[in-house]
Amino acid sequence: MEIFNEIAPLKAFLKAKKQALNSIGLVPTMGALHSGHISLIEASKAENDLTVCSIFVNPAQFNNPNDLQRYPRTLDKDTLLLKKVECDAIFCPDSTEMYRHQPLIKFDFGHLDKIMEGKFRPGHFSGVALVVSKLFNIVEPHHAYFGQKDWQQYSIIRQLVDDLNFNLILHSVPTSREPDGLAMSSRNLRLNESQRQKAIVFFEALTFAKRALNDGAPLVQVQQKVMQLVEKDAEIKLEYFELADSKNLNLLENVKGASQPIMCIAGFVGEIRLIDNMFL
Ligand code: PAJ
Repeated sequence: MEIFNEIAPLKAFLKAKKQALNSIGLVPTMGALHSGHISLIEASKAENDLTVCSIFVNPAQFNNPNDLQRYPRTLDKDTLLLKKVECDAIFCPDSTEMYRHQPLIKFDFGHLDKIMEGKFRPGHFSGVALVVSKLFNIVEPHHAYFGQKDWQQYSIIRQLVDDLNFNLILHSVPTSREPDGLAMSSRNLRLNESQRQKAIVFFEALTFAKRALNDGAPLVQVQQKVMQLVEKDAEIKLEYFELADSKNLNLLENVKGASQPIMCIAGFVGEIRLIDNMFL
């Protein structure tokens, strides 16, 4: 497995490889890797001759400096894990390599970045789109892999690829969960034991809401119940619970009409912000 901290040697390596290979897969991450990330690597390995995993905690997408500072960084462990699953190359630049100058560009994704994560984390998706664009330009992958867990992020990247004619195929990989249902997340590492037990409530709320909405319960009533369920513990705060059309992220008031509705939820366990979603 090759490890690159700089753009130029990575590009030279890929250029040399490209002549002999049919396809390159890219898995962008911020590290602190878990089985969810590894499922993306495996999806890429199954479909490509060469897989690149990028590990970069992207300052441009953090609207909260505390969150950026406390984001888990476990590069040595990540490297071992990637070696074990036979990832071909890691790209782990530092901030000055990725941002040689202060970037001025801003992305606006219309309604896609004004709701849910975009509403509660202003500027977040502009930073995501910027770093993902950079990675697409650096690696020039044929395929790129993202998790369903961040469905709004996937929807925005799909729009980005379309708007800017990036020449690649996007893939969304199903959410990997812990045995009790908690969506795997790098942020779970920051939960203490009791918070870890409590964090399951977001999955429980989604499971409850799925049944209720499918049984015809009105969204407002389900939203109220979800709020009660989640916030019955004082350490947990709900930020949003929304129902959206997964194709275009239009928010829905009921399940009628949308071909594939998705429920999205976000909230805090103590200081740790978690998100999850579930298709109806
Ligand atoms: P990060 O949170 O590290 O996630 C990297 C990729 O792994 C994302 O596509 C995310 O959706 C996926 N992922 C995370 N948890 C998952 C799970 N439980 N099951 C399946 N996939 C999962 O998302 C980011 O990094 C960044 O915003 C990034 C796209 C790298 C840009 O900086």
